[in-house]
Amino acid sequence: MSERTFVMLKPDAVRRGLAGRILQRLEDAGLRMVAKQRLDVNEAQSGALYAEHEGKLFYDSLLTYVHSGPVIATVWEGPGAVALVRKLIGATNPAEAAPGTIRGDFGLAIDENVVHGSDSVQSAEREIPIFFPGLD
Ligand code: RTP
Ligand code: MG
Repeated sequence: MSERTFVMLKPDAVRRGLAGRILQRLEDAGLRMVAKQRLDVNEAQSGALYAEHEGKLFYDSLLTYVHSGPVIATVWEGPGAVALVRKLIGATNPAEAAPGTIRGDFGLAIDENVVHGSDSVQSAEREIPIFFPGLD
């Protein structure tokens, strides 16, 4: 089985109607979507997803943002999917993200940066079951 990664379209992306265009970019890059769900993230899910950031100055505002509206959680599959998605997403801060990347083209600020992508294969394996516990 080829590599999988977790991608979450954050509340600002859903609110702004960007979901179709963002998902299209991942498909255009050759990735295959294997799961998709629109949901309101609960505290157990956000706490698990961002556990590594607990205690940082931006942690509380990060959780408030993730809870500010529905997200679209997705899983993608393909060769080198984790690194490919991170490349397509671009730098964490949209002000530093290259043009042509998702954050470079759509992101407004570091705390409204449109999309999450797993940062390693191990992170993907941890994050996917938080949102898709039954996925094969
Ligand atoms: P993500 O996990 O959402 O894909 O983003 P990332 O890997 O590019 O960045 P990460 O370091 O994991 O940070 C997670 C999210 O926290 C917010 N953040 N704010 N104010 C700040 O200095 C700051 N640093 C990070 C961002 O929304 C980032 O996506
Ligand atoms: Mg991260």
